[in-house]
Amino acid sequence: MMNNTLRNLVQKMPKAELHIHIEGSLEPELIFALAKRNQVALAYPSVEALRSAYAFTDLQSFLDIYYAGASVLRTEQDFYDMTAAYLVQAQADNVRHAEIFFDPQTHTARGVPIETVINGIHRACTEAQQRFDISASLILCFLRHLSEEDAFETLEQALPWRDKFIGVGLDSSERGHPPEKFARVFARCRELGLHLVAHAGEEGPPAYIQTALDLLKVERIDHGVRCLEDGALTQRLARDKVPLTVCPLSNLKLHVFDSMAAHNLLQLLEAGLVATVNSDDPAYFGGYINDNFIASFEALPLTLEHAQQLARNSFLAAFLDDAARARYLDEVDEYFCEADWGA
Ligand code: ADE
Ligand code: ZN
Repeated sequence: MMNNTLRNLVQKMPKAELHIHIEGSLEPELIFALAKRNQVALAYPSVEALRSAYAFTDLQSFLDIYYAGASVLRTEQDFYDMTAAYLVQAQADNVRHAEIFFDPQTHTARGVPIETVINGIHRACTEAQQRFDISASLILCFLRHLSEEDAFETLEQALPWRDKFIGVGLDSSERGHPPEKFARVFARCRELGLHLVAHAGEEGPPAYIQTALDLLKVERIDHGVRCLEDGALTQRLARDKVPLTVCPLSNLKLHVFDSMAAHNLLQLLEAGLVATVNSDDPAYFGGYINDNFIASFEALPLTLEHAQQLARNSFLAAFLDDAARARYLDEVDEYFCEADWGA
């Protein structure tokens, strides 16, 4: 159990969010508003009926409903509104820097031009600096259930807007779609100077974490919680300081762990890993980044020192230049210096 002082401290501490799918921030209310605006028919009669369908058995059962929700996004304004709504939440949770995933293939497959997607999301990110004092950048994710050829086409379509995203990732159905399927397109992205990340070891085996590192040459692993099943891999991740973007409520809702008390976040930290806490798909999994922190601290014996480590890790793992990283780390350390040590 966490006391109120620690809760307050965790909520207010400066933090970076590095694993948030912007389409996963689409709240049912906004899905209905956009469906009306764009005259898109939904399979659910009401916001409540849609929300009550959010009872997932595994990753695929979530993805089916997540892609259906994203079908209401049509115009640049829709993508802007969705992203601006997330950034309001992020500011409320004292997020100082966000690296935001987006899934262009979900939209281009429906005939939405990629520039509509990128420009809408990017405009909200640019404004976030002025409006909320948050730095925000974009990571384009390839859908791993589609072919590598499709990923290459998506990359080609996105390249005229290369200055609007900092990296690429790999998401969607993990099992049966190993990292090696995307080795060539990731090699091309590497040549282009893009940052590289991939979901691995969420539902898929630790071997996928290994191949994401060896064959895709990713700099961070998204989720990665199954690494502890392989001691040598865990040691490698610790030695090379490969960050893991952990999403506790997502893991709970998708049955990666049976309960929050069974989550391995503390073991990951104790193994010396650069673990971070993130929301993944906050509208679907029961909360934004602070809800993830609070659920973890409520269920696990995490302390004030762990809070500071997690805040520091979020900036250590971020794709920031040295000066910005140092400024944010100073902000964290100053915050904890001044914080009430009664926690
Ligand atoms: N797309 C959105 N959320 C995801 C997750 N948790 N795993 C894989 N793909 C996703
Ligand atoms: Zn994810």
